[in-house]
Amino acid sequence: MTRWGVIGPGRIATDFAQDLRLLDDGELVAVASRSIERARSFADRFGVPNCYDDRDALLCDPNVDVVYVATPHASHEADTLAALRAGKHVLCEKPFALNARQATRMADEARARGLFCMEAMWSRFLPAYRTMLEALHSGIIGEPLLVESDFGFRAPLDPAGRLFDLRLGGGALLDVGIYPIQLCMLVLGPVDRVTADGVLGDTGADEQVAAILRHAGGRLGVVKAATRLELACTARISGTEGAIELPSRAHCPQAYRVITPAGVETVDCAFAGNGLRFEAAEVHRCIAAGLTESSIMPLDATVALATVLDSIRRILGVGYPGE
Ligand SMILES: NC(=O)c1ccc[n+]([C@@H]2O[C@H](COP(=O)([O-])OP(=O)(O)OC[C@H]3O[C@@H](n4cnc5c(N)ncnc54)[C@H](OP(=O)(O)O)[C@@H]3O)[C@@H](O)[C@H]2O)c1
Repeated sequence: MTRWGVIGPGRIATDFAQDLRLLDDGELVAVASRSIERARSFADRFGVPNCYDDRDALLCDPNVDVVYVATPHASHEADTLAALRAGKHVLCEKPFALNARQATRMADEARARGLFCMEAMWSRFLPAYRTMLEALHSGIIGEPLLVESDFGFRAPLDPAGRLFDLRLGGGALLDVGIYPIQLCMLVLGPVDRVTADGVLGDTGADEQVAAILRHAGGRLGVVKAATRLELACTARISGTEGAIELPSRAHCPQAYRVITPAGVETVDCAFAGNGLRFEAAEVHRCIAAGLTESSIMPLDATVALATVLDSIRRILGVGYPGE
């Protein structure tokens, strides 16, 4: 049984706690909030025995094996480093860090301590992603040469909210653009060059972003992200002998289409729950096997992803406090 402690009992932590109930080899044993009332309310909902109003108190709890960092982006580095220094394994929400420098520090700390650490890039663990990758590797659409993908929604403008406030890591790129970009890197490999443009809102955070990623071998990724605009939220991988299409919302698809000269096949990959149990199951598996990284989302992939996000932000002119 893997015993979890959660820091930041907000929206995604609630989805995660619901999904953990679908697994029989993991349980939530502790929660830390900045307020004891919020910690208690979360604990009551999910039957969590230990509540803390202080992150570091949770990190001293000997019953906690692995910490799920579910706070806003700007807290990920400090929360993850503190958890690792307390000897806990970590699953940290995406984006793993505000920038590649932070991500590298976090990865170095995990490696130095021999602890498991992973960015919660849940898409990669979903049945659709696993089977789609197998199909791609089997050559079903020939050589993939172009990935087009976007992710955007119209959020109400809240200058103090985590989507818009730069102090919390606001911006469309880090919040949702990360999904299409990680898909491009998963399918097409490392990025050699980035071209981008974007629209910044009054807070200085990017509200619309469009980027072209040039991958090794001249392959292209074309991505868009937005927080004030509903986008299609789909993905298409075009290859020399066909294409794969992920329907909306492409970061958590329940099916995909394979289009080849032989016809169109829809592959059903439906799952129950919120889709977060697959990454949790990988954490359980890795920790039980004594692995410190998952081959599905290794730390080098996280740092490479953060490096591409940095390059795009540099072009857009978006900087976070302290950078
Ligand atoms: N995997 C996914 O699909 C997915 C979806 C949504 C979000 N996420 C990621 O998960 C993270 C949290 O997102 P969310 O939507 O769950 O956010 P949220 O509900 O706004 O915040 C999460 C929790 O963090 C704590 N918190 C809020 N502001 C904080 C601050 N300034 N400093 C420290 N703690 C703070 C709050 O808990 P207390 O006030 O009780 O301490 C809050 O409930 C983000 O990095 C986001 O990118 C992932």
